Amino acid sequence: MEVYHTIAEIRNFVREQKITGNSVGFVPTMGYLHQGHLTLMEEARKENDIVVVSIFVNPTQFGPDEDYGEYPRDLSRDVELATGVGVDVVFSPQTEEIYLPNSATTVEVEGLTNHLCGATREGHFTGVCTIVSKLFNIINPDRAYFGQKDAQQVLVIKRMVKDLNFDIDIVTVPIVREKDGLAISSRNKYLGQDEREAALVLYQALQIAQNLIGSGERDRDIIKQQLVERIDREPLAEIDYVDIVNQNNLEEAEEIKGEILIALAVYIGKTRLIDNLMLEVD
Ligand code: PAJ
Repeated sequence: MEVYHTIAEIRNFVREQKITGNSVGFVPTMGYLHQGHLTLMEEARKENDIVVVSIFVNPTQFGPDEDYGEYPRDLSRDVELATGVGVDVVFSPQTEEIYLPNSATTVEVEGLTNHLCGATREGHFTGVCTIVSKLFNIINPDRAYFGQKDAQQVLVIKRMVKDLNFDIDIVTVPIVREKDGLAISSRNKYLGQDEREAALVLYQALQIAQNLIGSGERDRDIIKQQLVERIDREPLAEIDYVDIVNQNNLEEAEEIKGEILIALAVYIGKTRLIDNLMLEVD
């Protein structure tokens, strides 16, 4: 396993691999790896000759009041975990390697980014799309792997790839959860013991919605109200958003029918957690 810190090194590596006909799978991450990330890498390992992982806490996707400074970082632990699942190369650049001081270009996907996390985290998806475009141009992979945990991110990236003609297949991997249902996240590290218990409310609320829909409920407001009530009963939880939208355009779903996405963002204490559920409703 190699760890490269410069664009020139990773470019050379990938170029040599491509000359020999090897396919390259790419997993972009912000590090502090957990089983969610490792599952993406395992998928990439199955489908590609070479697996490249980037570890870069991208400053441009954090708002001024967000946790860029505190975001957990541990490169040597990450390298060990990535090695364990057969990753070939980690690309871990410094911020100055990626962002030139006079950089004037960003990538913005319109429309889809007005909803859900895009509505409450201004500029977040411009930061995500800009860094992912840069990483795609640096690494030039055949396939790139993203988690369904960040449902809106996958959708936005797929749209960007289509609109900007990136020749890369985007592969989506289902949400990986703890045994009790909590979606695994690097931010779970911030949770104290009481908060960790309280954080289960996201999954529980989604299950309430799933059960209601399963038993025939189709009134959007009733489902949403039950979700909100469940979360509000948890004293440590504060809702950022609860939304029931169409999976394809993220517009509010007037009818509970077809491809539905139920998405939540909830503060547990100071920690903002997200979770979601995709449903195909008759
Ligand atoms: P990060 O939060 O580190 O996540 C990296 C990838 O792991 C994302 O595609 C995310 O959806 C996936 N992931 C995280 N937790 C998961 C879980 N429990 N189950 C399945 N997949 C999970 O997302 C980012 O980084 C950044 O925005 C990035 C794309 C790297 C751009 O900076």
